[in-house]
Formats: sequence, C-alpha cells, structure tokens
Amino acid sequence: MHHGQNKILQIKNLHVEFPLKEGTVRALQGVDLTFFSRETLGLVGESGCGKSMTARAMLGLVPEPGEVTQGEILLARKDQDPIDITKLHPDGEVIRNIRGADIAMIFQEPMTSLSPVHTIGNQIMEAIILHQKTSKERAAELAVEMLQAVGLPDASRQLSTYPFELSGGMRQRVMVAMALSCDPKLLIADEATTALDVTIQAQILNLLKDIQEERDMSIMVVTHNLGVVAAVTHRVAVMYLGRIVEEAPVEMIFEQPKHPYTQGLLASVPKVGSKVGGRQAGRLQTISGDVPDPLLQVSGCTFHLRCPRFMRGICDREVPPFIETSEDQQVRCYLYSEDVPEAEKAQTAGGEGPRG
Ligand SMILES: Nc1ncnc2c1ncn2[C@@H]1O[C@H](COP(=O)(O)OP(=O)(O)O)[C@@H](O)[C@H]1O
Ligand code: SF4
Ligand SMILES: [Mg+2]
Repeated sequence: MHHGQNKILQIKNLHVEFPLKEGTVRALQGVDLTFFSRETLGLVGESGCGKSMTARAMLGLVPEPGEVTQGEILLARKDQDPIDITKLHPDGEVIRNIRGADIAMIFQEPMTSLSPVHTIGNQIMEAIILHQKTSKERAAELAVEMLQAVGLPDASRQLSTYPFELSGGMRQRVMVAMALSCDPKLLIADEATTALDVTIQAQILNLLKDIQEERDMSIMVVTHNLGVVAAVTHRVAVMYLGRIVEEAPVEMIFEQPKHPYTQGLLASVPKVGSKVGGRQAGRLQTISGDVPDPLLQVSGCTFHLRCPRFMRGICDREVPPFIETSEDQQVRCYLYSEDVPEAEKAQTAGGEGPRG
C-alpha cells in the first residue's frame, strides 16, 4: 500500500516517563509508528492515552521532568542517514531547524502559536525568513501566497491585521499558513479543528488534503473525533495507555475493527463514518470504566481492566505482541494469537468483564 511513497519518519519502541514524587508516570510505553509521504495518519484514543506526548516527542518537546527512556524517532534526510530526534539537545540548533522546516505542528488553540501583539503578516514573514533565508520583499510575497492558499479572503490586506481581529476559523487558517510556510515534510495537527464548527472543520481539513497532494506531505491528525478520522485519514493508529493497540487502513478500522478497545470506541459514537450511513438511534454502547490512573502499572494487556473479552491468566500476564491479522492490519490482542486455545477465546465471548 505504500508503493511509491517515501518513509518520512519512524518512531520505534518509544518510551517516555515522568519521574514524580508519587511514582513514575509511564506516558509512552513502546510506541511504534511510521509516516509516509502523501499519507494522513489518524492517531485516536481517549484523553490521557499519550497522543499529544507522541506529537511533542516528535518535535523534541517532551516537557520536564519527562524524558525519553527508550526508543528512537528517526527523521529521514536527503542524501544522509536518518537523524534520531530523541538524541538531540532540546534547545540546540539542529532540533530548532527541524521544527517548522521538517516537522510543523498546528494546535487546537491558534493563540498558542500566534502572537497577539504582532500582525499576522509579520508573523508569517518571520517564519519564512527564519527557515528560507529570503529577503523581506520575497517573504511578503510568499506570505500573501500562503494566505491565499489557505483560503483567506483579501490576503494582501490581511497582512496588517492582528490575530484578535479574525474569527476562530480564519485564525486557524492563518496558523495553517504559518505551519505550511516553511514547506514541512510532516504536519502534525493535534485536535487542531476540534474547537471549530463542523463546516469550517471540513473546509480546513479539505484544504490540508489539497496541500498534501501538491507537496507530497505527510500528515498526522490527532483527534478523538472519529468523524474527522473517517473523512480525512488514510490509515489509523489506535492508542491506549501509551501504546498503539491497533493499526490499519481507515476502511478496515471502521468495517472490521479487531481490538476490543477499537470496537468500543466505534460503538461509543454515532456512526458518522460508517457506510451503513445515517445517525443510528438507540442506545450508545460505551466502554466500561475510565482510563486507569497513569501512576497505576497495569500488568499484561493494559486494556484488560475494561475489556469485555478478558481472558484470565492470559491477558493479565504479558503485554500482547503486535499480531498481523492481515497484510495491512496489526493488533495487540491475544484474541488473534495462534498460541491461545480457541476454547479460551470462545469462553469470554459473552462479554463478561474481568471484575465478575
Ligand atoms: N507534564 C506532565 N507531567 C506528568 N505527566 C504528564 C505530563 N504531561 C502529560 N502527562 C501524562 O502523560 C500521559 C499522556 O498524556 P497526553 O499525551 O496529553 O494524552 P492525550 O493527548 O492522549 O490526551 C497522561 O497520563 C498524562 O497524565
Ligand atoms: S489482550 Fe485480552 S484484555 Fe487485551 S484487548 Fe485482547 S482480549 Fe482484551
Ligand atoms: Mg492531547
């Protein structure tokens, strides 16, 4: 499926820990992800599962006292060996050049990356000059082009406006323009459209799609909104408690979800992405319980405390390995392991919880 696409960045077995007085928070416990050009990866999971930490680690921005304790984040480079982002000094020149030029990020709240006291023109031009070392005049031209590309009406006049003068949707477009002004190879959107109304969300996401095709860019969309996932992603990685538990092309995630957590997530929302169509009336099946306290060390499969298919003596011992259920689909769950007897798998199929 990745024929003709280049591998842009690869995360291998990434662990991030926060040593706190109360104990160690294992925010990431072995994350594996690969990003390809022209592909949009959706990263989904409940709040607290490590989605933003994964994004931050990719930019060398794990906050203190957190640290990468294991693993690699390999950024491909032209005519050179890949560079491991986890090994770079967080304030050094190398990572500062990577941010923006290779990997750019857009956030939910545009004001976290836009300055309230500078015009949007100055901010975009500053980003362009920093990374592309062009003249001020050329930077101004490029800024107008970028603002036009993101669909800001009357772009040249908008250069002299301040962020607070714009609507939320327009601010989001400006932030997208800023992120794209340095021509990144990988764009991370962390809940970037969550706060916007549905129509504007769709416009911005479609805009990203067009730009992606023009520029061979890779995009990671971090969201808990499965409608967004269905609309814009090619591949989906489902995250639970610091690990990817399932990864597959988007159609497979919606049509044949394999991991009980993925099945629960899909059952918890109206079926916007489904081919079945329409909002289905009736009871919304939800996943029982909450994401456990991050200080709690859960043995075996970290989902076993909430899983309706829990198998005692199997699921609570070792972390399940990634199992390929088809060429494109990988899942961390013992239900798909050939080493687990079918009788064990069948026994729990009635949906009895582990607490019974
Ligand atoms: N500054 C911090 N100190 C301690 N733990 C943190 C910090 N930031 C995040 N975490 C922990 O890292 C885990 C993942 O958080 P996050 O990546 O923000 O989740 P998500 O984006 O999926 O909602 C959570 O368990 C959270 O408690
Ligand atoms: S490994 Fe066991 S507990 Fe974990 S998701 Fe699969 S069946 Fe559920
Ligand atoms: Mg987050």
